[in-house]
Amino acid sequence: MRYILAIDTSCDDSCLGIYDLKKRQIVINKIISQAAMHASFGGVVPEVASRGHLKNLPKLFNEFFQSTKIKIEEIAFIAVSCRPGLIGSLLIGSSFAKGLAWSLGKKVYGIDHLEAHLLSPLIDNRELKMPYLCYLVSGGHSMAVIVKEVGDYHLLGKTQDDALGEAFDKVAKILGFQYPGGPIVEKVAKKWKGDLLELPIAYKDKSHYNFSYSGLKTAFKRLSIEKGINIENKVLITYEQFFHLPKNKQAIISQLSASFQNAAYNSLFLNFKKILKKYSIKNFTIAGGVASNKFITLNFQKFCNQNGINFYFPKIEYCTDNGAMIAFNSALYSQQNNLKKIENLHNLSRSLLF
Ligand code: KG4
Ligand code: ZN
Repeated sequence: MRYILAIDTSCDDSCLGIYDLKKRQIVINKIISQAAMHASFGGVVPEVASRGHLKNLPKLFNEFFQSTKIKIEEIAFIAVSCRPGLIGSLLIGSSFAKGLAWSLGKKVYGIDHLEAHLLSPLIDNRELKMPYLCYLVSGGHSMAVIVKEVGDYHLLGKTQDDALGEAFDKVAKILGFQYPGGPIVEKVAKKWKGDLLELPIAYKDKSHYNFSYSGLKTAFKRLSIEKGINIENKVLITYEQFFHLPKNKQAIISQLSASFQNAAYNSLFLNFKKILKKYSIKNFTIAGGVASNKFITLNFQKFCNQNGINFYFPKIEYCTDNGAMIAFNSALYSQQNNLKKIENLHNLSRSLLF
């Protein structure tokens, strides 16, 4: 049996991934995004996300089974994100996976979504070796972790409030942009070539490696109001609609976006410099949705090149939520004959440990 079939529904995207155990590579990574359903709310609405998965998952699988040459008999087992995430979304994905596994006579394993993000830089960077430092920066999490080996992780620090991706989304909403805000803030920030506005970075003088983004968000809100951005009762706009705004407003929004993005990068960079003082880091990675931000990765790349550190990050499709990383994570356990170490969901009556 050659393939692992994986599902991720931890947040709003319905994701399917297939790993080829023979070729040792991802062969399919399909997503039905719900971004349009949440766009006007400025963030993910959990109930809408759950119902979206109910509609999208069967569609994703019907289309897949109708078009693929992969035979059901060739599927070795099923892997599914079982924690952490939105409870309704996880329940729908894991119930779907268990139902599918039962009907196909396959085993089903639960994968920790964060572990999958942490290991995602390995998917297409074959030269990356463990141990490596990983900044997992997504819509739900921000953490600095040393990945020692598969299943062995050392948490150095994590956010005490908001996640970095969440801060990008909230800042975008303040500026009047739809969800997901990260990619729009990055594109709008790129338009600004002038001075940057100062924003506070939490814990920069502290000796620990935690993060905090709520103060940055509040300071950003205050600054935006000072700059004449009216944040109340606004209809949220798309990136394209940004160009319909008056030129002076476009400039202010670009400057605010660039200033926030710079502070976001600095929050990671200053944390990284503290870690370098204490730990010898040869291999450094960044993963999760925010890792698709080119300003952040280019700046880290520059610093790492100058300092003899190997820097890696996943392809964009493996940064944001995806099924490929779930399949890949379970493949690593399977190749080490260690599937017994991960959550076994074969028993249909077993409740999930969210
Ligand atoms: O990893 P992910 O898809 O979902 C979670 O596990 O949370 O991350 C989604 C987050 C969103 O907050 C989104 O705004 C952010 O990643 N994001 C970005 C960019 N692309 C996505 N943030 C900054 N710059 C980007 N280009
Ligand atoms: Zn994620």
